[in-house]
Amino acid sequence: MNELDLLVESAREQFARSATPADLENAKAQFLGKAGRVTELMKGMAQLSVEEKKTRGAAINLAKQAIEAALNDRRQALQDAQLQAQLKAEALDVSLPGRKQGQGGLHPVSLTLERIQGIFGSMGFDVAEGPEIEADWFNFTALNTPEDHPARSMHDTFYIEGGTPGAPNLLRTHTSPVQVRHAVQHVKQHRALLDAGQSMPEIRVIVPGRTYRVDSDATHSPMFHQCEGLWIGENVSFKDLKVVFTAFCRTFFESDDLVLRFRPSFFPFTEPSAEIDIQFQDGPLAGRWLEVAGSGQVHPNVVRNMGLDPERYIGFAFGMGLDRFTMLRYGVNDLRLFFDGDIRFLSQFQ
Ligand code: PHE
Repeated sequence: MNELDLLVESAREQFARSATPADLENAKAQFLGKAGRVTELMKGMAQLSVEEKKTRGAAINLAKQAIEAALNDRRQALQDAQLQAQLKAEALDVSLPGRKQGQGGLHPVSLTLERIQGIFGSMGFDVAEGPEIEADWFNFTALNTPEDHPARSMHDTFYIEGGTPGAPNLLRTHTSPVQVRHAVQHVKQHRALLDAGQSMPEIRVIVPGRTYRVDSDATHSPMFHQCEGLWIGENVSFKDLKVVFTAFCRTFFESDDLVLRFRPSFFPFTEPSAEIDIQFQDGPLAGRWLEVAGSGQVHPNVVRNMGLDPERYIGFAFGMGLDRFTMLRYGVNDLRLFFDGDIRFLSQFQ
């Protein structure tokens, strides 16, 4: 091997050993740079004759071209390797299952409420709301439950700053306070008719909302949901309560042979009063009586607190537990599941 072949060979080796583009540029400088080996050889021709220059020059040029070709090959190889490494690093496993976008949905208690509003809406009931922080007057006194009434002890709740001396504000223990709140507004709106001795439009409303009591077990939560119903007119009887509530329950549970029982009971704000029990005829709950609501004919004292004459206006009210209805409809046995926020539970209702 002559000197030039050795030079080309040595360049190929150096290029092959260059693991990065920067290494390769350094190696290139050693051979093709201004002070590189090939330049040196060119300079060394100065003393040669014209004839010698021709052959020597051609030989050096060939060697130079060979070195440049080796350099380009190595450059390309390094680029390819880098691209391969990058592709490998960014590789996608197209056989992995796709990730679905999570879809939200309504809470089961909200689904129940939608259903209830639909059914009562079809019977001409409006929807009203009231505050969760309530005055003692609306939660108790206006509902014929004065301060020393024993019924208050069954409605122990969370008391809150504000209100009047001896009667602090509280978290409402039921949706019944909205009976009086709503009726007072209704009466105000129709004051002119009433003052003229004419008939006012009936009050027919349901009131869903959160309620609070000091109570916690599998069927009680300190915060729970109720839905109140109120129908006041000049000729609304206990019979209407039975018809309306029976039609509602049969539609809600999609069961025409559902049996209802109005069991005599006591509430200070209704007289007579009844607990409403339902009995499924088939399914897992067949034969059992389940209490779903309190109800009754609105007490004359409450009608008076609404601003109406109890000799002329009469009607019924009921209050049902929305969480209880949701448990029965879906066969859930622990009320607390509704408030844990566990997506594995909640997603089953979508
Ligand atoms: N407010 C009562 C309760 O929470 C239920 C009820 C409402 C009873 C309306 C009679 C009339 O237990």
